[in-house]
Amino acid sequence: MTDEQEQVRPSGVWATAVGVARVRALETERENALFRDPLAQAFAAAGGLWPSSPALPDDEAGRRRRLAVSLSIVIRTKFLDDLLHQASASGVRQVVLLGAGMDSRAFRMDWPDGTRLFEVDVAAPLDFKASVLRRERAVARCERITVAVDLREDWPGALASAGHDPAAPTAWIAEGLLIYLPEDAVELLLARISAQSAAGSRMGLTLGTRGVIERFGADAVPGSAASMWVSEMPDDPVGWLAGHGWEAESHTLRERAAAYGRPIITPPQREERPGGLISAVRR
Ligand SMILES: C[S@@+](CC[C@H](N)C(=O)[O-])C[C@H]1O[C@@H](n2cnc3c(N)ncnc32)[C@H](O)[C@@H]1O
Repeated sequence: MTDEQEQVRPSGVWATAVGVARVRALETERENALFRDPLAQAFAAAGGLWPSSPALPDDEAGRRRRLAVSLSIVIRTKFLDDLLHQASASGVRQVVLLGAGMDSRAFRMDWPDGTRLFEVDVAAPLDFKASVLRRERAVARCERITVAVDLREDWPGALASAGHDPAAPTAWIAEGLLIYLPEDAVELLLARISAQSAAGSRMGLTLGTRGVIERFGADAVPGSAASMWVSEMPDDPVGWLAGHGWEAESHTLRERAAAYGRPIITPPQREERPGGLISAVRR
């Protein structure tokens, strides 16, 4: 069987991971790119989103929403790249990407010797990813371990069986994931992450900002990413994470975008709320 015949077509929530890859491929082509993701284009092409995506509604509001989502993906990627650099510099040698999708950090970032990176997602995107990686002859720059499990099931058990050591610190990333999980599932996920996190662990989360579902999801195209968003951040994300044993900082997209030289020039539509980009350290 060829890779093409084996290949699973993107569908449901995990199709959004291929859309994210398309945004990273576009960023990679920019002269002043905030990161370079050389595999992103291959993922987008394999998923039918490159060189162009299928026709999308072309009204002004839809176009503006798509641009806003794309910018948020670029900024969060850079934010979490920096967080992982800091985690490595602080001696962390285990990384867990929850809902890893087409994240290619194992291939595109420099990792200290001894780093083990676990990619957790359901089987379909991991199979799709594996076939693209084979075709591209991609070589990971750390020890990369994939764990096919649904995050609503016993994923800590699956992660432990794959070799994760909860006694050593871990850098956890949940990027573009929690917005797809109902609030009780987010709460359970956080409790489970916290139970597997030795002192010195780090965590990077992206959370749907308050009101984003109403603004983006209400008239979203059926099947689009925004149509599947179900949860937003708590009013006090720092306090929420303190309750789980983490010292957290929350950043707004606007503030990070300005810091990275991509200021958002449109005025805020409402009073700035706590931001959806979270970095946290386990004490
Ligand atoms: C928007 S994508 C983001 C992918 C990746 N974190 C990134 O930023 O490139 C969301 C990912 O979460 C995964 N996901 C959503 N719900 C999941 C669940 N219950 N168990 C495992 N993975 C899940 C999807 O399969 C998909 O790959």
